[in-house]
Amino acid sequence: MRARFEVNGREVEVAVEPRLTLADCLRHHLRLTGTHIGCEHGVCGACTVLVDGKAVRSCLMLAVQAEGSKVVTVEGLSNDEGLTPLQASFRKHGALQCGFCTPGMITTAHALLTEEPDCDADRVREVLSGNLCRCTGYVSIVEAVLDARAAYKGDAQ
Ligand code: FES
Ligand code: FES
Repeated sequence: MRARFEVNGREVEVAVEPRLTLADCLRHHLRLTGTHIGCEHGVCGACTVLVDGKAVRSCLMLAVQAEGSKVVTVEGLSNDEGLTPLQASFRKHGALQCGFCTPGMITTAHALLTEEPDCDADRVREVLSGNLCRCTGYVSIVEAVLDARAAYKGDAQ
């Protein structure tokens, strides 16, 4: 089957098996390897991308289901060469170690902060509760997200 959708502002058309997940399509067909695959069944959040602005587990979505959608991966959060304010905040707070969970954390937190730039720590914990990190213990991740809120206020990220 053919699937046509937008990825990071670019129209793409891919020939895929109907059973191919969006995660595998992004990584193997489009070479966007910033999207990580951990559990492959919707538990770890490592594969989270934005689909029409919503955080979605790309291992639970088929590539053909993205037809006509706007997909944004961690690579597409900024057109600049530098880090986004949220990424810079992760670095500032040491909110990553091995980095495997980080793209999913960043895309999930980006969706949250875009919708709710005034969210509090409890809300950040609630939303990130579906993203597993085996390294950091989460405290620094929550601090990094909270610290990045200012960048989202009155700013279409
Ligand atoms: S790889 Fe998709 S949720 Fe774990
Ligand atoms: S930084 Fe290693 S899994 Fe989160």
